[in-house]
Amino acid sequence: MRFLVYIGWVLNSIVSLVSAQDYDFGVDVVSLTRRQDPNAPIVVSRLPLASNGSTPLRLEIRDVKADKYKWDLFILALSMFQSVSQDDPLSYYQVAGIHGVPFVTWNGVGPAAGASQSGYCPHSSVLFPTWHRPYLALYEQELFKLAGAISRMFNNATERLLYMQAASDFRLPYWDWASPAPNGQSHFPDVFWNSTMTQYGPNGVQIIRNPLYSYSFHPLDGEALIWPPLRSWNETKRAPNTDISELEPPSMNDQVNTALLAKLPEIQQRLYILFSSYHEFDSFSNKNYAISQNLSYLDSIEAIHDIVHIYGGSRGHMTYVPLSSFDPLFFLHHAMTDRLISMWQLLNPTAWITPQVSGETTYTALKGTMQNSSTPLTPFMSSADGTFWDSDMSRTTEVFGYAYGDSSALPGDGDSPRNKLIRKINRWLGKNSPAMIRVKSQAQHRRPNDHYTEWIANVHVNHGALGGSFSIYFFAGDPSDDVDAWGVAPNLIGSVGIFTMSGMSGSHSKISGTVPLTMALMKLVNLGAITDLEPNSVVPFLQKTLHFRIAGIDGKEVSPEQVTGLYISISSSRVRLPESEVEFPDWGRPTLRLAMWE
Ligand SMILES: *[C@@H]1O[C@H](CO)[C@@H](O)[C@H](O)[C@H]1NC(C)=O
Ligand SMILES: *[C@@H]1O[C@H](CO)[C@@H](O)[C@H](O)[C@H]1NC(C)=O
Ligand SMILES: *[C@@H]1O[C@H](CO)[C@@H](O)[C@H](O)[C@H]1NC(C)=O
Ligand SMILES: *[C@@H]1O[C@H](CO)[C@@H](O)[C@H](O)[C@H]1NC(C)=O
Ligand SMILES: *[C@@H]1O[C@H](CO)[C@@H](O)[C@H](O)[C@H]1NC(C)=O
Ligand SMILES: *[C@@H]1O[C@H](CO)[C@@H](O)[C@H](O)[C@H]1NC(C)=O
Repeated sequence: MRFLVYIGWVLNSIVSLVSAQDYDFGVDVVSLTRRQDPNAPIVVSRLPLASNGSTPLRLEIRDVKADKYKWDLFILALSMFQSVSQDDPLSYYQVAGIHGVPFVTWNGVGPAAGASQSGYCPHSSVLFPTWHRPYLALYEQELFKLAGAISRMFNNATERLLYMQAASDFRLPYWDWASPAPNGQSHFPDVFWNSTMTQYGPNGVQIIRNPLYSYSFHPLDGEALIWPPLRSWNETKRAPNTDISELEPPSMNDQVNTALLAKLPEIQQRLYILFSSYHEFDSFSNKNYAISQNLSYLDSIEAIHDIVHIYGGSRGHMTYVPLSSFDPLFFLHHAMTDRLISMWQLLNPTAWITPQVSGETTYTALKGTMQNSSTPLTPFMSSADGTFWDSDMSRTTEVFGYAYGDSSALPGDGDSPRNKLIRKINRWLGKNSPAMIRVKSQAQHRRPNDHYTEWIANVHVNHGALGGSFSIYFFAGDPSDDVDAWGVAPNLIGSVGIFTMSGMSGSHSKISGTVPLTMALMKLVNLGAITDLEPNSVVPFLQKTLHFRIAGIDGKEVSPEQVTGLYISISSSRVRLPESEVEFPDWGRPTLRLAMWE
């Protein structure tokens, strides 16, 4: 099997070496993408509404694929975008480079004193959700512009009209990593897997480099990319198979698929808990706040989004914070994250940013800077006079000219959009939630005010404890000695990925995440290993059988003594079951049950 995959890769590589380039439009792309005034500041604007006045939707990648015209334009525009010369500030390279490396000034927005060895992106910060809005809008605005230009290149008038219509409400697709794939399809969509593809366009059918497979550096600036061995690779990679070749190891997207599919139940459970029991923007938004406030709710949308970085990269570019945005997957992943944020906002319309100290240094603000909803989201300008977007201005998606189908204008009965969304989340994420499973199994003989107990492992750690991303795995019983087997071990009951930057060891700011344990415990109840979910049964069981292990970014085991600031505890909460489909379970305050490491 491995061998066949290898042969497939060799053939693929030969094809790509010999012929695959970006799509050849037969026109000078440089003159097409050149700005009229290269010195004018770059402004992130609102994209135009659809011709019927509605706000166009960002669609799931598979729905875009099903629409020939939109799909062709997406691939062609991305291919063209990636071909733009890297010295252009509106090239794929420089737009991706805003987030992390090469740590240079973009759009004339210079570094804060002492902060020049960072990208602009705020992590462990209350600005995490809103900063990505103008960032993705900038990326979307470039694709929109290119899609429009490409649509006008088709010679056949009928066809041109169809492509122009598709371009007029084109928006960035997202990949829904929190839902199972449609029957017969891979979880990680196959459109990311092949290094080359056959693509129709205004200059005919061509075999091109698949712009969703990787970004190909031109030229490669290894010094700017810092981290070996990734810095010497000509293109971005996922699950690079370093067993095969030291020089340019192939991406093993099948491994990414397996790893992310294995995380799906946990992702659904964590999102469900986040939607049902996190009601404050600060603790919802980032992985630094809850610890700084001594709260016992330690999950966040940022911590859940980290899972897709860690396993989507599987030691490739996505796993390294400052390299991650070069992988084209980054933008589809962040569009999904933004979609989840906009859903949460609909559920919690009055929740908003309260001032919080930043947990990490960015290019324009040192760690420890007080941030609030009017802090500028640098380097994104909302106007040529140098005004920056801020969080208050970025509070809705509509101001950027896009929406998601879940949270705007949901069709159907007269139910409020909020109730429709709760119903949708209960059916979707509730599938992997103990509460909804209990609701189903008790449908016949429900008592009002029904409660049960949920179990959660809480982790926090010094940011930069290991100088790179790492994962903590929890097992019921002895873990295997084979680190590679941990992620899919039958006795794995959960894991938490810590997505963090190198070069910040010794930092005392902390980041947190959680692992829900209840589903695994319910299975053990069904098997007779535990009597029930109550503390009297669960605590002695966990004391006897719960183990954890830590894997570093190199895939090797790390001893917990080496991880500074590590804290692991188990807590439980009483949860009241919802009494209707438009209610969520109601979580009581957590009680600390076991301190496993401090
Ligand atoms: C407007 O057009 C879009 C297609 O661009 C369509 O999806 C949407 O349903 C239309 N909205 C209304 C209110 O007609
Ligand atoms: C132009 O495109 C349309 C739609 O794809 C197609 O039906 C038609 O045959 C084409 N016309 C010519 C002259 O190729
Ligand atoms: C990927 O390549 C294989 C082999 O060339 C092909 O059969 C398959 O359809 C391709 N998949 C996609 C999504 O293009
Ligand atoms: C990377 O690209 C450079 C320039 O195109 C080329 O010389 C080099 O051989 C490539 N490296 C690998 C490992 O393919
Ligand atoms: C959190 O708890 C620690 C130790 O109990 C205490 O030193 C610290 O002041 C508390 N912080 C806040 C923000 O309450
Ligand atoms: C918000 O923070 C900015 C600095 O980022 C500061 O100038 C402003 O006074 C703060 N506003 C409020 C309301 O605290």
